[in-house]
Amino acid sequence: MPRIDYQVSQKVVHWLMAILIILDLNVAQKFGGFLEDADRIESRIDHSQLGMIVAVLFVLRIFLRVRYGAPPLPEEMPEWQKLAAHAAHWGLYVLIGTLILSGMLSAMNADSVVAPFGLFAFGDGNGEKDTFLFFRGIHEFITNAIIALIIVHVLAALYHLVVARDGSTTRMLRFWRSAKQAG
Ligand code: HEM
Repeated sequence: MPRIDYQVSQKVVHWLMAILIILDLNVAQKFGGFLEDADRIESRIDHSQLGMIVAVLFVLRIFLRVRYGAPPLPEEMPEWQKLAAHAAHWGLYVLIGTLILSGMLSAMNADSVVAPFGLFAFGDGNGEKDTFLFFRGIHEFITNAIIALIIVHVLAALYHLVVARDGSTTRMLRFWRSAKQAG
C-alpha cells in the first residue's frame, strides 16, 4: 500500500526544527540593538548552540528525505498548488542551509570566540569587522526571507487543513497514524 503520510521520524524532526528556529530567532532579536559586550558574547554562544542543533537536525532531515522521500500530494490538488508546494519546500531547504552556513561564517569572523557547547571554536575571536558585517548582513537577509516563506508555508498549511480539507497538512500533523494507514 502506498504511503500517505510522512514517517514519524520525519514529523519529529520537522517540528523540533520549527520550535528551535523560532527559539533561536528569539535569541537573535537582541543582536540588532545595543548590547553590553558580555551579554553579546553570551547571546552569541546561546544563539550558535541552538543554531548548531538546528544544523544537525537539518542534516538528519535531508538524510530522512532522501531515504523515505515524501508521500504524494492529494490527486485532486490543482497543479499550480502542487508546483507552489514543491517550490516552497525546496526553497525552505535551500534557505535553511544558507542560513546555517552564513551563521557559521559570521561566527568565524566575529570579534569574540564563538564555541558552541565548548566543543569547538568557530574562529579565534579576532575576526575582521567588515567581513563579519558582510556575512551577518547575508545572515540577516536570509532570516527575513525565511520568515516570509514560513508565513506563506503556515498560511498554505492552514488553508489545506481548514478550507480545502484535502489531507495534505495532516500528513505532517498526525503522529498517531502509521505511515501506511489509509484515510
Ligand atoms: C537556526 C537558525 C538561525 C536563525 C533563525 C538565525 C538568525 C539570526 C539573526 C536574526 C541574527 C541577527 C542579524 C542582525 O540583526 O544583524 C543572527 C546573528 C548571528 N547569528 Fe544567527 N541564526 C541562525 C543560525 C545560526 C548559526 C548556526 C550560527 C553559527 C553557528 C549563527 C551565528 C550568528 C552570529 C555570530 C550572529 C551575529 C551576532 C552579533 O551580531 O553579535 N546563527 N542570527
